[in-house]
Amino acid sequence: MQNFDYMTPTRLIFGRNVIEKLPEVMAQFGRKILLTYGGGSIRKIGLYDRVKELLLDFDIIELSGIQPNPKYDPSVLDGVKLCKEHGIDVILAVGGGSVLDCSKAIAAGAKYDGDPWDLISYKVKAQEALPIVDIITLAATGSEYDCGGVISRIETNDKIGYVDTNLFPAVSFLDPTYTFTVSKKQTAAGCADAMNHIMEQYFCEDSTLLNDGFMEAGLKSLMVNAKKCLDDPEDYTARAEMMLTCTYGCNGIYALGNSMSGWPCHGMEHALSAYYDITHGEGLAIITPRWMKNILSEKTVDRFVKYGVNVFGIDSSLERFAIAEKAIQATYDFFKSIGIPMTLREVGIDESRINEMAHHVAVNEGLENAWAPLLEKDIAEIFTASL
Ligand code: NZQ
Ligand code: ZN
Repeated sequence: MQNFDYMTPTRLIFGRNVIEKLPEVMAQFGRKILLTYGGGSIRKIGLYDRVKELLLDFDIIELSGIQPNPKYDPSVLDGVKLCKEHGIDVILAVGGGSVLDCSKAIAAGAKYDGDPWDLISYKVKAQEALPIVDIITLAATGSEYDCGGVISRIETNDKIGYVDTNLFPAVSFLDPTYTFTVSKKQTAAGCADAMNHIMEQYFCEDSTLLNDGFMEAGLKSLMVNAKKCLDDPEDYTARAEMMLTCTYGCNGIYALGNSMSGWPCHGMEHALSAYYDITHGEGLAIITPRWMKNILSEKTVDRFVKYGVNVFGIDSSLERFAIAEKAIQATYDFFKSIGIPMTLREVGIDESRINEMAHHVAVNEGLENAWAPLLEKDIAEIFTASL
């Protein structure tokens, strides 16, 4: 087992109607709130009105219109400006992972005098950030329990995962009923994203029985519950389990003591989303089985055997590579069964920019150091196989 240094300071408040505690929670941080949200889903589900009612005694400034794959310009820049102009004490992010990620970048930028891109691009380390409270409305990213945010900058085709321990939300409210209205497309994409977060930690050299069991259970839970949510969007138990399983996704708890994997699928997907603005979870689902095929080798096969036998119940007496291939096929079949378009062409990506994207990934994501190293030509092959 590898050494580790782990802390998640985020308070999770989980369950039906938990936002009744919102006023007492917000009061700990001050009276001036920047309320951030996306394109209107929180108004449709009545959450916007409820938040405003609960926070009548607070001074609220709003930043709306934060898009999926949140953009540096205008959202991060506008948010930072509002925080500085109004002397904001705390950010309240209400929505999906994009709203929360954008709010994290704003929280750091608000306490920095220079260009906030310096922080996101790791040119400068943030010294502090505004506190963040969130009400998450989509089960997917795990942003509510981690210190990362992913920000896109269109003019440079960058989509950067910005990680900083200053950016853990102080408090996350998780009420599964707010996810009842999440569309089938986003429910499936959220499931694929969270499954991939687990796989990115599972496929590594050095793991433990404990972590493997935790992650295999996480994958099974996501597969079972996503199907239940698609069949009955208001199945509270399924939405609740899915939400919590997603929440564990990116804060490292699934793989404490494991060796690094390099998060290759995320490295590659970020380029797809940066160049074509596609839905993150769909990009991951498309790439994942092709990546698995690409890295299957004598070095990696036993990990696939364990995954295939324990997650999909594949017959353990079969030959090792046969089990691995069945596991890869089962992964593909599951994503397809929940309605995800499983080719890049279906999400509007053709071969024209594959080499450019592969180069971008090779230069920026360090995947030559992944557990199963990927060079530029491997990345181009995975993209091509995904067409
Ligand atoms: O904008 P609104 O109107 O709110 O609509 C959103 C958006 O169109 C909608 N939605 C959210 N909650 C809803 C709802 N619709 C109906 N009912 C609800 N309750 O869903 C759409 C997608 O929202 P978005 O926030 O983009 O989805 P998600 O939570 O999957 O976030 C994706 C972003 O997170 C990043 C991704 O790269 C992507 O930019 N990630 C962040 C991570 C992190 N911070 O740890 C890790 C992940 O790997 C991921 O990269
Ligand atoms: Zn992800």
